[in-house]
Amino acid sequence: MGVRNSPCFFFMLSVLFLCFCLNIHLSFGADTISANHSLYGNQTIVSSEGGNFELGFFRPGNSSKYYIGIWYKKVSLPTIVWVANRDRPISDIYSSELKILDGNLVLLNESRTPIWSTSISSTTSNSLVAVLLDNGNLVLKDGSNSKHLIWQSFDYPTHTWLPGSKIGFNKLTNSNQLLTSWKNSEDPAPGLFSLELNPNSSEYLILWNKYQQYWTSGAWNGKIFSLIPEMRFIMDVSGQVKQLTWLNSTKEWNLFWSQPRQQCEVYAFCGAFGTCNQIVQPFCNCLYGFKAKLENNWKLNDYSGGCVRRTNLQCRNTSTANGERDRFWVSPNMELPVSPKPVWVGSAAECESTCLDDCSCTAYAFESNGCSIWLGDLLNLKQLSEEDGRGKTLYVRLAASEFSSAKNKKGIVIRAVVGSVAVVIFFGFALVVIRRWQRTSVGAAKAVEGSLVAFGYKDLQNATKNFSEKLGGGGFGSVFKGKLADSTVIAVKKLESISQGEKQFRTEVSTIGTIQHVNLVRLRGFCSEGKKKLLVYDYMSNGSLDSHLFHGKDSKVLDWKTRYQIALGIARGLAYLHEKCRECIIHCDIKPENILLDAQFCPKVADFGLAKVVGREFSRVLTTMRGTRGYLAPEWISGVAITTKADVYSYGMMLFEFLSGRKNSEHSEDGKVKFFPTWAASVTAGGDILSLLDHRLEGNANAEEVTRICRVAYWCIQDDENHRPSMGQVVQILEGVLDVNLPPIPRSLQAFADNQEHIVFFTESSQSQSSQAPANSVAASSQARSSSSTTSSPEHDK
Ligand SMILES: *[C@@H]1O[C@H](CO)[C@@H](O)[C@H](O)[C@H]1NC(C)=O
Ligand SMILES: *[C@@H]1O[C@H](CO)[C@@H](O)[C@H](O)[C@H]1NC(C)=O
Ligand SMILES: *[C@@H]1O[C@H](CO)[C@@H](O)[C@H](O)[C@H]1NC(C)=O
Ligand SMILES: *[C@@H]1O[C@H](CO)[C@@H](O)[C@H](O)[C@H]1NC(C)=O
Ligand SMILES: *[C@@H]1O[C@H](CO)[C@@H](O)[C@H](O)[C@H]1NC(C)=O
Ligand SMILES: *[C@@H]1O[C@H](CO)[C@@H](O)[C@H](O)[C@H]1NC(C)=O
Ligand SMILES: *[C@@H]1O[C@H](CO)[C@@H](O)[C@H](O)[C@H]1NC(C)=O
Repeated sequence: MGVRNSPCFFFMLSVLFLCFCLNIHLSFGADTISANHSLYGNQTIVSSEGGNFELGFFRPGNSSKYYIGIWYKKVSLPTIVWVANRDRPISDIYSSELKILDGNLVLLNESRTPIWSTSISSTTSNSLVAVLLDNGNLVLKDGSNSKHLIWQSFDYPTHTWLPGSKIGFNKLTNSNQLLTSWKNSEDPAPGLFSLELNPNSSEYLILWNKYQQYWTSGAWNGKIFSLIPEMRFIMDVSGQVKQLTWLNSTKEWNLFWSQPRQQCEVYAFCGAFGTCNQIVQPFCNCLYGFKAKLENNWKLNDYSGGCVRRTNLQCRNTSTANGERDRFWVSPNMELPVSPKPVWVGSAAECESTCLDDCSCTAYAFESNGCSIWLGDLLNLKQLSEEDGRGKTLYVRLAASEFSSAKNKKGIVIRAVVGSVAVVIFFGFALVVIRRWQRTSVGAAKAVEGSLVAFGYKDLQNATKNFSEKLGGGGFGSVFKGKLADSTVIAVKKLESISQGEKQFRTEVSTIGTIQHVNLVRLRGFCSEGKKKLLVYDYMSNGSLDSHLFHGKDSKVLDWKTRYQIALGIARGLAYLHEKCRECIIHCDIKPENILLDAQFCPKVADFGLAKVVGREFSRVLTTMRGTRGYLAPEWISGVAITTKADVYSYGMMLFEFLSGRKNSEHSEDGKVKFFPTWAASVTAGGDILSLLDHRLEGNANAEEVTRICRVAYWCIQDDENHRPSMGQVVQILEGVLDVNLPPIPRSLQAFADNQEHIVFFTESSQSQSSQAPANSVAASSQARSSSSTTSSPEHDK
């Protein structure tokens, strides 16, 4: 029985539209602004060496205003990484000037008034120069050869973190370096969201309006990005921190990490009286009776202005508006606003009148645990789906006249006249009872969910057209294709087998549900209603790797370049699981069937149902054997505790399959077992490396890359786990950053080779190789763990 749940096909929708469409001008070549050489009009300077960055005036989007900024020179989508005069734009670039003046780099506006300056008081030298470096840092120094930096833009980051710059307290400038989002995509002035370092705990925090914390990183390791120059780390206008890499193939920025994961977790994202809705776009809407305060900003996805009343409240003034008092609009399924004020009253009617009697009261809620009222602005409201079950009912105060205009709205209006209070109470209690009942039935999953979407069963039934398009099936259930309301294509895994399904469900939600990486399949959410357990992923249009690797007939043969990129991508995903997550995760079942490919053949490690979470402090975990025969590390078979190196072993075994394009162990026609890694050993030690290749590739491969893959594979399957590289090292080797030596051939493989009487194998991939590599006939022990291509059925921990 296979442990994987069949070809699951997922698609990672991680393209982010961050196109601050900009107007940028031509460069005049140099990288320096000096006393003799100022900058105006459409001139720019470009960093020398790599020519990676450019500085000059730019205009964000359709804005008519100009700013001095630094952007990527080689990335075709204009992308600003730093802005000098964030909140003091200019409108005429030909009469403005960026120049060295009185010991500073200064921006003069049209009337020659300094509107931005490096503001150093110490130097007035004439040899002062401003140089744009190839890492995106603009530095001010005394003479172009000077090593001493008087000022640098890295000390004053704006919304983008670049490798080499720091976020945290800077003792030299005595200032806190932080990232602050733009106001909106056309206005680089500091917005409401910022990313800062808490100096006490070395944790990164995201703050709203500089004080309200809504996300924290735990300790973050800045080294991750140093190897990938086309990467940026930004505090986005959405209030999320985003990590993006430039995809040269599609010419787009690819989002591969963001926190908080969900837009609605961003504190007060929709502003006062705005409600955030995670499932239906746009994210923000105004409460009934309210309208956007700044219509234009809403269009630019800047919701921070929030909403204002269409009609002012009467408060206690009964002498107008037909003598009617304010009333309450019923908003069901809400996550209630922040800062409630508890009131000790016993009934909904008393709760309501308490609010009505206070002119600053804007809403109330009454449920089994009592009455809460809100004074002033309502912040951080969320609209939940009815199936979600966590929703509460909020009663929002509106002027009486709002209700006459809403007469036709299917009975949502509850008239706050004495006669119907009873109805309100009844409904209120009924809702509470229903919600509580729903909550208990889904409670277990909610606790581990973190930021995932809890879907209702009905939602998923609709999304998959009643589970009509099956993508595959396996031991734990079936996978169906579906489409969300916002057109996102999803894959829904419906778990069937009761006890194992339940366990796999919890493991999967609690491991992959909390992390994000471009090479790990993304879990969007789940559904847990009684026995109904479903997992919702991004849809991957190219299915699982095994179908491309082993069954080339119906699908195209994967070319070498793609194979290499897939191997590298998987290594990156595993390195992330092992080394970069808050808790170390061992996947425990790495094999081609559990690698999914998106439309661009970007690999995603999937199927975390057998994964083990190992705390950072414990590197080993004792677990019953799990995984798949043929990929199992020897220590597992001998029953000792395993480490992340067990995944490294499985990965190594899989690399051999990248080379040969077939399963490592195959039964030949005469019933004998062939074992590729043993056979390949002799060639790796000195032979025609390309002869190892899948013959369908017809030798079209880079011999150096083949050698590298081959050596890595042998290092990964060393008997002693201490001799195996970490996945991080594998990534570096495959990226060409680290060299790799000739590996020793693992003794377990030699054992196969020494014992020749059993089986001869693998001479068929090309005729010529038999003569070049006479030792290519080796044997495999019949009891070898790797000699069977069947999978073990996993046992489960208690
Ligand atoms: C500025 O120009 C003067 C004369 O043309 C020259 O001597 C001086 O070296 C220049 N300064 C810089 C910083 O290039
Ligand atoms: C830059 O300005 C110069 C002089 O004003 C002009 O000749 C040139 O066409 C401009 N280039 C662009 C790309 O606007
Ligand atoms: C700029 O304005 C044009 C026309 O009004 C519009 O089509 C385009 O979408 C706008 N671009 C941006 C980035 O807002
Ligand atoms: C230049 O800046 C000064 C100071 O902010 C301002 O008073 C002046 O109006 C600006 N000039 C123009 C043309 O905008
Ligand atoms: C750090 O600790 C100091 C002293 O205990 C305290 O005043 C300060 O508020 C703390 N900062 C943060 C961001 O928690
Ligand atoms: C991106 O692709 C272009 C050709 O399409 C190439 O010239 C350029 O060097 C590539 N850039 C990177 C960073 O690989
Ligand atoms: C009541 O409303 C009327 C008409 O809008 C206004 O003239 C009057 O001042 C209001 N009274 C109070 C106490 O607000």
